[in-house]
Amino acid sequence: MDGRILSLFYICIGFIWWFSVFTFGLPVTILFILSKNIRSVFFSWVYATIIEPIQREKIDATRKKLFQILEDSLGNRDNSVPLEVLEIGVGHGPNLKFYPENCNLTVLDKHKFFEKEFSKNKKKYPHVSYQKTVIQPAECMRGVDDNSFDVVVSTFLHCSCDDSVAVLQEVKRVLKPVSGSFIHIVTDYPLRIRL
Ligand SMILES: C[S@@+](CC[C@H](N)C(=O)[O-])C[C@H]1O[C@@H](n2cnc3c(N)ncnc32)[C@H](O)[C@@H]1O
Repeated sequence: MDGRILSLFYICIGFIWWFSVFTFGLPVTILFILSKNIRSVFFSWVYATIIEPIQREKIDATRKKLFQILEDSLGNRDNSVPLEVLEIGVGHGPNLKFYPENCNLTVLDKHKFFEKEFSKNKKKYPHVSYQKTVIQPAECMRGVDDNSFDVVVSTFLHCSCDDSVAVLQEVKRVLKPVSGSFIHIVTDYPLRIRL
């Protein structure tokens, strides 16, 4: 290739590079540094659209174990009475397919932008009776009544929430005393605890 054309080519690439850095890269980087909320929305989006779909097969095996623990703990529950369930940090709803029959499901997430994906997803699982979505941080679940749920579900939330102790206190508040269970996955370990 002619030397002058090659130089022109490099100049154009350099120009495009600097132009993108100053018009897009720099403002976005500054926003990321300054705003915790933007970082949190971005990482939640990356999780829902890239990480979760790529790892779905492996993660679903863990989710299945978690809901099996729930089924086992329910023993011979009266299936005609709906199970009141709250899922916190629900995201786009990857747990929906694992819920047992006859659940009244309330979901909570601190980001509103998941609602659209969640709404699409919930139509695929009519066996779950969706009640409502609450947009609130799990550390302070305003709008969720005390002693109102049989089960609280949380999967892969504690790695992204700000204050796990406050979340556990809120879970304890909203669970029915004595019978209520909190089932959760932290990293790879499904667990059920009574708070
Ligand atoms: C890693 S994703 C997990 C999504 C889903 N539970 C799953 O198992 O794939 C974390 C989710 O929790 C939400 N989240 C993070 N911190 C939260 C908080 N403090 N309160 C409520 N939701 C929160 C995020 O918006 C996101 O939807």
